[in-house]
Parts: sequence; C-alpha cells; structure tokens
Amino acid sequence: MNVVEGNGAKIPAIGLGTWELRGRTCARIVEQALRLGYRHIDTAEIYDNEREVGEGLRASGVKRDDVFVTTKVWTTHFMAKDLDRAVKESLARLRLTEVDLLLLHWPSAQVPLAETLGALARVKQAGLARHIGVSNFNVAQIAEAVAACPEPLACNQVEYHPYLDQTDVIEACAHHGLAFVAYSPIAKGRVKTDRALARIGDRYRKTAAQVSLRWLVQQNVSAIPRTAKLERLQENIDIFDFELSDADMAEITAMAGAGGR
Ligand SMILES: NC(=O)c1ccc[n+]([C@@H]2O[C@H](COP(=O)([O-])OP(=O)(O)OC[C@H]3O[C@@H](n4cnc5c(N)ncnc54)[C@H](OP(=O)(O)O)[C@@H]3O)[C@@H](O)[C@H]2O)c1
Repeated sequence: MNVVEGNGAKIPAIGLGTWELRGRTCARIVEQALRLGYRHIDTAEIYDNEREVGEGLRASGVKRDDVFVTTKVWTTHFMAKDLDRAVKESLARLRLTEVDLLLLHWPSAQVPLAETLGALARVKQAGLARHIGVSNFNVAQIAEAVAACPEPLACNQVEYHPYLDQTDVIEACAHHGLAFVAYSPIAKGRVKTDRALARIGDRYRKTAAQVSLRWLVQQNVSAIPRTAKLERLQENIDIFDFELSDADMAEITAMAGAGGR
C-alpha cells in the first residue's frame, strides 16, 4: 500500500479508525480489516478499546511488525509524571511492547507544551513508541511544538474531508516535514449522500466515500475511515486502482465552505 512519510515514519495511506468501536465488534472489525489488507490501525486511550484492538491484531494472524499501530495520550495525562504511566497502561491494554506512533490527542492549555513534549520524547527514547506526533494542532501550535520537542515529530492528525479547507495546516505540516493524517475522512458518513461526489464516482465506478478517500490520498494525506460494517471495510480500502483527474480533484477541493467541521 502507498505510504505517507513524516520525519522517518512511513504511515500506510489508509488506516482503520476505531473511535466508537467497542467490545467484540471492535475486535472483529480490526481482525477482518487486517485480513483484508489494512496495515494501519488508529486507536486512543480515550476510545476505551485498546484491549480489543490488540485482540483483533493477534486474531488476524498478521505479523506485528507489518501493522502500523497509532494510539493517543489524553489531555488529563499531559503532565510529565502522568504521561509515562498512561503510555505504559495503553501498551499493557494493547499487549504490545511499543506502538508505531504515539500522539498528543489535543492541544492543552493546562500543561506547558514543552513539559508534555519532553515526556513524549522520553517515551520514544525509551523505545515505547517508534514515532511521536500531535493531533488537532493548528499552524501556530505546530511551529511551537516543532521548536520545543527534543525529538522529531512525525505527524499531525487533523479533521479533513471535502467540506473542510485545511490548506494552511497542510502547508505547515509539509514545511516541518510532518505527515498529515486525516480523521473523519468521509465527514462522519456525510459524503455518502453527496450528489456531486456520487456523480464523480460514477465515472470511475466508485462510491462517493471512495472518491472522498481517493481525493485525500492523492494529496499525499493518510486517511483513517471508521466503519462497523464488514462490507464497507473492503469499500474503504479499494481506492488504489483509479486516479481522479485534475479537474475532479479541483471540483472536490472547491466543495469546502463555512460550517464544514
Ligand atoms: N484525533 C482526533 O481528535 C480524532 C477525532 C475524531 C476521529 N478520529 C479518528 O478518525 C477516525 C475516523 O473518523 P470518524 O470516525 O469521526 O468519521 P468517518 O470515518 O469520517 O466516518 C465514520 C462514519 O461513516 C460511516 N461510513 C464508513 N464507511 C462508509 C462508507 N463506505 N459509506 C458510507 N458510510 C460509511 C460509518 O458508519 P458505519 O459504521 O455504519 O459504516 C460511520 O458512521 C475515528 O474513528 C478515529 O480513529 C480522531
């Protein structure tokens, strides 16, 4: 699968989002996704499903080193004394010795960023995370984080889909060498009833959701769609056998407007 690179990390262009997937459904979907060829799973401490993500990973039979696993530290654990413990607890739930990517889930005004980034860097140096990064950081916060972090940041994970313009954040990530990972890449399911996306998809025999995901991947963005439906797992990864024309890319880019979030 295509990868998106960020300061040494090679992030598969499509990953499975797992927010709101719980219990047996989560474990089953993760297992099935890996069997279908997904090689990138996105979870978080706050999703309350790391245990099931780990179960799905082991049940799939896919080798640990072939899968890119991301988790995120929640803001209540951003003080140096808390972050290390929170990451060890995430790893214990996942039953992994390290994650591929560890993110700060949201910026926080409560704890100085330099303190949190110092703790994040130490976790990487201790071998608990192969790469570290941030999520939901704006342009100014990205610059601040890059300057304050003792280790390179590999990624910023941000909401991005055809209804939202993220040009400034994309440029900031490129400037600092961070990969851009798009969450809510099908706008929480909104794209499925979009007539314009469906019309573009008809030309390639693809669905509106596939068009949205392809539009992201063609911008060198990694996308992490979530589904609890087995048939949609296949749909959301079947986007590597067509290429949107420049005109279609431009038409989709022009869809962004106010209220897109
Ligand atoms: N860093 C952060 O702060 C942050 C915030 C939000 C999300 N995330 C991550 O990003 C992942 C994805 O974002 P998201 O869960 O907000 O939204 P999303 O992936 O854009 O959309 C998920 C919704 O779309 C539906 N769907 C999935 N595939 C579809 C398809 N092919 N056709 C039609 N509908 C489809 C799903 O319903 P069904 O289950 O019924 O298919 C679900 O309701 C999350 O799961 C999480 O891992 C991160």
